[in-house]
Amino acid sequence: VSFSGTKHLLTLRDLTAPQILALIRRSLELKESMKVSQNHPAAGKQGQPLAGKTLAMIFTKRSTRTRVSSETGWAHYGGHPMFLGKEDIQIGGGEPLKDTAIVVSSMVDAILARVGAHDEIETLAKNSSVPVINALTARYHPLQGLADIMTLYETALPNALSHTPSASLPLPLLPPLNVAWVGDANNIVHSLLVSLPRIGPISLTVATPKGYNCEADIISYAIGEATGGDNRGTVKFTHDPKEAVRDADVIITDTWVSMGQESEKAKRLKDFDGYMITEKMAKEGGAKPDWKFMHCLPRKREEVDDEVFYNPERSIVFQEAENRKYTVMAVYEMLMLWAKN
Ligand code: CP
Ligand code: NVA
Repeated sequence: VSFSGTKHLLTLRDLTAPQILALIRRSLELKESMKVSQNHPAAGKQGQPLAGKTLAMIFTKRSTRTRVSSETGWAHYGGHPMFLGKEDIQIGGGEPLKDTAIVVSSMVDAILARVGAHDEIETLAKNSSVPVINALTARYHPLQGLADIMTLYETALPNALSHTPSASLPLPLLPPLNVAWVGDANNIVHSLLVSLPRIGPISLTVATPKGYNCEADIISYAIGEATGGDNRGTVKFTHDPKEAVRDADVIITDTWVSMGQESEKAKRLKDFDGYMITEKMAKEGGAKPDWKFMHCLPRKREEVDDEVFYNPERSIVFQEAENRKYTVMAVYEMLMLWAKN
């Protein structure tokens, strides 16, 4: 798989399906070698491919998972990550993103940024002389999308890596899978919509309340990829959460109030009435008996009850969170090594 011409990661839409699968293959491999046990011969020996290289981490919003995975992942490769919260740098005082990108990129080797509207990350990328990685915008969260895909592989095709012992062999596509999104029309579901229909015969059903619709161009892209490609998947939209979970293998949700939407909280809590994921709603909707639950976290109590969230037979949310580390490390390899070979 060639990565020449891949300078930034702003959305998974910019990657081809084989490129996405190469990232997932490498993430699975990293997890196996880094984690299995301290006795694993490759544990901790990933080399230092980023020695001497600095990552600027510009965050204008809070973060736990993205910050910890990206900062430790860069350091694991021998590089120096530098966290720049908005109150630490002049962005907080109103210095334009354009000027920030020009200046910061003249001194570092890559930028990872969590910002507001998606055009903010585009402005950073346009004015940066080094790779820019989207660490969440209001429209997309590609790093989360990759971890979600990796988690689906671990669930649906646990021996995927044994089919692809070498990087030159492509990862098999995901097997047929019914995935239900029950929640807001936000950056997380947008990231699933631009990736899942291209990597297997996935039936993706998205339930959002009336008045909360995914962005039109993303909807038409996803439907086009599902129906126009060779994968025989489907993408459907509904306002009925129970309809969405019918025959579901996996049910996914996220907060109903994303960062930046705090002033809409009261209205949103009302509008999302009936969207809480519980055993009862999944059963009434007809989800498969062994359905799995995913959530990018952080979780609020209203969108999923404790019975589901903390049931290790049901909920794979902490595995999904841990996978953020391996997937961001694969993204570093893609932008800093593969794209330059
Ligand atoms: N899922 C996710 O991006 O979490 P953080 O906001 O904690 O980074
Ligand atoms: N949709 C959420 C995701 C947080 C990781 C937000 O944008 O706040």
